[in-house]
This record gives sequence, C-alpha cells and structure tokens, in this order.
Amino acid sequence: MKVVVIGGTGLIGSKTVAILRQRGHEVVAASPNTGVNTLTGEGLKETLAGAQVTIDLANSPSFETKAVLEFFETSEGNLLPAEAAAGVQHHVALSIVAIDRTDNGYFRAKLAQEKLIEASGVPYTIIRSTQFMEFLRGIADSSTDGNRVRLPPVLFQPIAADDVAANVADVALGAPRNGVVEIAGPERAPFNEIVARYLKAVGDPRAVVSDPEAGYWGGQVEERSLVPVGEARLGRIGLDEWLRRSQAAA
Ligand SMILES: NC(=O)c1ccc[n+]([C@@H]2O[C@H](COP(=O)([O-])OP(=O)(O)OC[C@H]3O[C@@H](n4cnc5c(N)ncnc54)[C@H](OP(=O)(O)O)[C@@H]3O)[C@@H](O)[C@H]2O)c1
Repeated sequence: MKVVVIGGTGLIGSKTVAILRQRGHEVVAASPNTGVNTLTGEGLKETLAGAQVTIDLANSPSFETKAVLEFFETSEGNLLPAEAAAGVQHHVALSIVAIDRTDNGYFRAKLAQEKLIEASGVPYTIIRSTQFMEFLRGIADSSTDGNRVRLPPVLFQPIAADDVAANVADVALGAPRNGVVEIAGPERAPFNEIVARYLKAVGDPRAVVSDPEAGYWGGQVEERSLVPVGEARLGRIGLDEWLRRSQAAA
C-alpha cells in the first residue's frame, strides 16, 4: 500500500515512516525538505498519485497564535482537496487531547484543522494525543520564571513519541473511523510533579513550583483539562523507561 506521510521528516513522522516501511509498505516521507510543501501546494499532486493513505504529521514552524492558525488552515486546506482529487481513501491526522475543552492559541488552530478534516468528505481518523514526553523540556522552558518553573497542579499524562508513532501506524493501516481516537501515556500524575521528575533526572537545577494560577500556553486549565476523559489507548513507555532510553541514546 502507498502511504504518504506529510511531515515525514519530523519527530513523529520519521518514526511512523520507519514502522510502516518495516511492515513492507511503500512510504513517502513528504516535507519541504523532500520537495513537498502543503502551504504552497508544491509537489502535492505528484506525491499523492496512487496513494491510499495520507498521514498528516506536519507542524507549524511558529507557535505564535496567528501564524499557527494560518499554518494549519492553509496546509489542510491545500492537502484535503488534493487528496480527494487523487482518490486517497484514508486521511489520518495527529491532534491533541482536550483541544475542544481547553483554550489556547495552538489548540484553537488544531481545532480548526480538525473541522476542515471533518468537512472534507475524505474518509478520516483523527488521533488526539496527550503531550509528548519529548516536549517536556519545551514546556519547562516556556513556564520558566527566573530560576523557577511555574506549573499548575492539574493532571498530566504524557506519552513517548515511540508510542505515538506505533499508534499512528496502527490507525493508518486500519479502516477510517470518521471520528476521533484518543491516546495517552501509561501514567497520570500532577503536571508539576512530572516536570519536576524530568528536570531532576536530566540534572536541570530549576525548581518546579505548583501554581494553580499558572496556565498552559497562556490558557487557564483545571484538574482534567489536559487528560482524556473517556476511553484512551495507553502507551507502554512510562516516564522512567523513557528517561532510561533517552539517556542511553544520548
Ligand atoms: N508536541 C506535542 O506534545 C503534541 C501533542 C499532540 C499532537 N501534536 C501534533 O503532532 C504533530 C507532529 O508533531 P512533531 O513534534 O512530530 O512535529 P515536528 O518534529 O516539528 O515536525 C514537523 C514536520 O512538519 C514538516 N513541515 C513543516 N512545514 C511544512 C509544510 N509547509 N509542508 C509540509 N510539511 C511541513 C516538517 O518538515 P521539514 O523537516 O522539511 O521542515 C517536519 O517534517 C503536529 O501536528 C502536532 O500538532 C503534538
């Protein structure tokens, strides 16, 4: 089966491409670096010819509110009609748990992306994931105030990129759900505790402060604002195991 992975050179994209190739599929890793640009449409028609499945794992180079909305609207707005014209039978996209009940600029952009997919007429599955463990440093950096990291004590359930990619590959090889599948890491704990464990393990001296007023990317969050509320597929790699693997790979 021919599978096109948009953003196939990124964190989740490159792992997903490797899994699907290992399973014997013809996989194209599509991104500006390989001559395919969903913002301009460059290379889309040629790449999608003969593809049965497209997996959209592209991400915006800028997380600024207006830029990220423009990225996902333009990108998906070019990709979906091109898929329809090419006869793609399954569009898979990676989104984020709770974007419809937690407000911040990035989540609004992902919700706009989901709405374009639902309205496109192309059979689809949206995978909503919790935050990636690989994103913990970025979260700590964005929440740093002096030498302290301020985070709300809300529930958090990060997932390793390897678990995300394994789920994306499985979903892509299955039938379209025309709906949402949620995925999360195996452990749920307060946000500040998980980030503190991570910083300690990597030898980062910043102290983590539990601050109920601290939001997430500028938006207010409550106890269950960032975790699945219904059924979710759980990854296998817990934080300690992920830390062991990342330190062994470094
Ligand atoms: N971070 C999280 O915790 C989290 C949680 C849930 C869901 N997600 C979602 O997961 C998805 C993948 O994230 P990631 O961290 O794997 O991304 P990433 O590592 O930043 O990779 C982004 C990919 O997008 C490609 N790209 C950028 N501009 C493009 C364009 N104009 N046309 C086509 N491809 C383009 C990049 O290609 P080049 O290499 O050529 O630049 C790269 O392959 C995103 O949609 C994100 O919203 C993230």
